[in-house]
Amino acid sequence: MSDKLIIFDTTLRDGEQSPGASMTKEEKVRIAKALEIMRVDVIEAGFPVASVGDFESVQAVANAVKDSTVCGLARALDRDIDRAGEALKAANSARIHTFIATSPIHMEMKLRMTPDQVVEQAVRAVKRARQHTDNVEFSPEDAGRSELDFLCRVIEAVIDAGARTINIPDTVGYNVPEQFGGLIRQLIEKIPNADKAVFSVHCHNDLGLAVANSLSAVMNGARQVECTINGLGERAGNASLEEVVMAVKTRQDIFPCETTLDTTQIVSTSRLVSSITGFAVQPNKAIVGANAFAHESGIHQDGVLKNRETYEIMRAEDVGWSANRMVLGKHSGRNAFRTRLQELGITLASEEELNETFSRFKELADKKHEIYDEDLQALVTETNLAAENEVVKLIYVRVCSETGETPRARVTVSVNGKEQQSEAEGSGPVDGAFKAIEAVVSSGADLQLYSVNNITSGTDSQGEVTVRLEKGGRIVNGQGADTDIVIASAKAYVNALNKILFPPDKAHPQL
Ligand code: KIV
Ligand code: ZN
Repeated sequence: MSDKLIIFDTTLRDGEQSPGASMTKEEKVRIAKALEIMRVDVIEAGFPVASVGDFESVQAVANAVKDSTVCGLARALDRDIDRAGEALKAANSARIHTFIATSPIHMEMKLRMTPDQVVEQAVRAVKRARQHTDNVEFSPEDAGRSELDFLCRVIEAVIDAGARTINIPDTVGYNVPEQFGGLIRQLIEKIPNADKAVFSVHCHNDLGLAVANSLSAVMNGARQVECTINGLGERAGNASLEEVVMAVKTRQDIFPCETTLDTTQIVSTSRLVSSITGFAVQPNKAIVGANAFAHESGIHQDGVLKNRETYEIMRAEDVGWSANRMVLGKHSGRNAFRTRLQELGITLASEEELNETFSRFKELADKKHEIYDEDLQALVTETNLAAENEVVKLIYVRVCSETGETPRARVTVSVNGKEQQSEAEGSGPVDGAFKAIEAVVSSGADLQLYSVNNITSGTDSQGEVTVRLEKGGRIVNGQGADTDIVIASAKAYVNALNKILFPPDKAHPQL
């Protein structure tokens, strides 16, 4: 019988460390529920000591998720570990993931600690974490650049102290597949108590090798892979969950293990993460890109029509591509609406929010007759945004765009409850609307990215807009959706302004 490969998703923790990818508590719970429906084994929900917001998010995920293990990250410090233990109290199954750096450069330059002190602190942290839960994971940060003998020493000591998962991170994405696989094999062979723990890997994608390194590790004995939806994560990102899972499923002839994920949930979860974070998925991205199963060339099309296996190694429906079906329409009632939200793992905070979302749904159904799951997700995102006590609110937009004339926009924006109007010209109606909004808000933020995607297909689709702003080195993404893309753009801009002007106070785990 094939071994189980544990899938540990860190979209809500490492994924959130991507500049601009911060998520609210409600958004994290929605993603966590989608991961649970996909049957992800472990969900790393955040870094509870980072801020009150992070603590509450981990707590909310621990409350909402019943079938997956919920994990909280903690540096090897008592207060981090106790905070994580506290946040996870309500979880059906809780894990504390504690870490300390073990590479010479990190120990010397960042921690300013001797190797002996690092071993001592790692052991102490694991013992402390064991006071909260039996399920403790330890990571030697920057293992990919650590010395083998020292890694063996730390790992043996933390397994003795009670760690049951040993995660080997390639923190800076420096390793290459053969070497990384070899490292995992040697650790398992050399460490005398290695059989008391599951070996895991956590690879970053700086050289584009995160998935390859993870898979090489699996071939050499790793039985947990840490990954994120769409490969989101710090810098170039983490190993992409969908690529790891589908590689193992598609190549069962060579992998000695299998996952228990429901892969048909992959595409909808990818869309959800992309719409919440504003990180668009490139069309040629494996598994979840719009072109991943599209055959353009005549020769390919002909081959696929005769026998799909001529050019297709996976079935689009196995990863959820065919799930884009009409779910609700203009005549659907509140009960059907509520039931479909529940099936998507969405619970709104109150009856009032449900009513609000339902009335937005009715407005949308008047404009657009076929309402898909993706439209429902966008509606819920809108409701969550509205509930976020926005300081800046978009009240009204009017644009005038005519052949041969300079486009103009007029807006009404409320700041701290006080409404103000403004008008501006622009190179296009969106540019005009942004200038008019900025004239009221005077944020001084730089626009770094503006992108529009259609949520479903067809010209009546909702446009989903991402706006990325930068100010003083901070980057945020704002989102907005509407069947009118100028209005969607103005909503996204206002959403980003709220985030850049009123940032939460939050610590980074690796600083
Ligand atoms: O990349 C890394 O080393 C991490 C650790 C906290 C596991 O994210
Ligand atoms: Zn990481």
